[in-house]
Amino acid sequence: MTEIFKGRLAILGMGYIGLPTAAAIATRGIDVIGVDINHATVAALSRGEVPFVEPDLAVAVSGAVAMGRLTATTETPEADAFIIAVPTPFNDDRTADLSYVKAAAEQIAPKLKSGNIVVLESTSPPGTTQKIGDWIGAVRPDLRMPRDGETGADVYIAHCPERVLPGRIMIEMITNDRVIGGLTPRCAEKAASIYRLFAQGEILLTDAASAEMAKLVENAYRDVNIAFANEISLISESLHIDVWEVIRLANRHPRVSILSPGPGVGGHCIPVDPWFIVSAAPTLSRLIRTAREVNDHRPHHVAQQVVEKAKRFRSPTVACLGLTFKANVDDVRESPAIEVVGLIAKALPDVDILVSDPYVSTMPALLAKYENLHLEGAYQAVERADIVVLLVEHEPFKAMRHTRLGGKVIYDTRGAWH
Ligand SMILES: NC(=O)c1ccc[n+]([C@@H]2O[C@H](COP(=O)([O-])OP(=O)(O)OC[C@H]3O[C@@H](n4cnc5c(N)ncnc54)[C@H](O)[C@@H]3O)[C@@H](O)[C@H]2O)c1
Repeated sequence: MTEIFKGRLAILGMGYIGLPTAAAIATRGIDVIGVDINHATVAALSRGEVPFVEPDLAVAVSGAVAMGRLTATTETPEADAFIIAVPTPFNDDRTADLSYVKAAAEQIAPKLKSGNIVVLESTSPPGTTQKIGDWIGAVRPDLRMPRDGETGADVYIAHCPERVLPGRIMIEMITNDRVIGGLTPRCAEKAASIYRLFAQGEILLTDAASAEMAKLVENAYRDVNIAFANEISLISESLHIDVWEVIRLANRHPRVSILSPGPGVGGHCIPVDPWFIVSAAPTLSRLIRTAREVNDHRPHHVAQQVVEKAKRFRSPTVACLGLTFKANVDDVRESPAIEVVGLIAKALPDVDILVSDPYVSTMPALLAKYENLHLEGAYQAVERADIVVLLVEHEPFKAMRHTRLGGKVIYDTRGAWH
């Protein structure tokens, strides 16, 4: 019979992933305890407030808190199941920094009882779920950890990667298919009992390492395809061919679907996760590494092109439109647009650079040191500029009338005005 989880659930990490998951499960009638080391986050949640912007999340959280189904604390409690949704950034050498995951596992370990479930949701290199078993086992030698081929473990450990799109998290969390990889088949089945509470997509059971690798491969796939588009852009530019026209024509082939080039790849997933594959198999990941390098080089190329264009003027004004890592969101994490603006500001210290983004109201910290940068409304920036650089295709920029751009040097890195 299909098992559905009953009992108390603790989720460690109340960020973009942990909090929506907590809200989705709490509104299905399960008692959820949100655990976070950040006191301000816990205080906000305890008041029913959400510390970041995500459509429909605030309503779900305030409702679950008001009903008493969702509570928040800095102390890991006893529970029947634990979900780990803490950060997995990379180290300076681009290997995965698993210190947050290890800390979470060690917080859970003293609280574990026989029959408990532990699920890792954080994006992680292959073998991390197994490491969680090892870290917990080191603290709790009294509990039998799951081992492939053995039955009779005391705790069930699995990986369930998250693939939601920021801005659509509350929808995709429910509708996306879920991959659940257990350290044993029984672990996967036990973890699935939690996701059956709210997931409407298909639940695909597998082993832990395959689930870990599948998530990384999804993001590497995106990265490699974006790198292909960026390389085509570079080559077309050098041959004085219009890349947008080339891609438009090539995509009329029934089996070709080239993505759009751009100023680089941002956010905290696609530029990070492929490195976890590279560090797991450095000599074998040649294409994945090269794609990362191609995409990482983009901001430098775009900035260099702007500097070249500026040389045609005695005292130019440059308008840079867009700072976020992609269109129509307010997220500036790892944004290539910010990198481009910083590189231009550094290369052209005597040039006024007007920066505009409808989603950003204060100059991002990384750019604050440049005195030649000024935040400006888009229309004013374009009006005053000799050179207009489009970095993010926000809707208001796309809708800008072409007459406003007349007589300016336009560098449209997203093809929005093509
Ligand atoms: N945000 C996304 O769109 C997205 C999508 C897919 C996968 N992921 C992955 O999900 C994981 C979490 O990402 P996020 O965006 O939610 O991160 P986040 O930074 O928004 O949230 C993480 C939270 O964990 C807390 N934390 C850190 N250590 C802790 C500990 N030991 N105990 C309790 N809380 C702790 C932090 O204070 C923070 O509030 C990462 O591995 C990320 O790669 C994120």
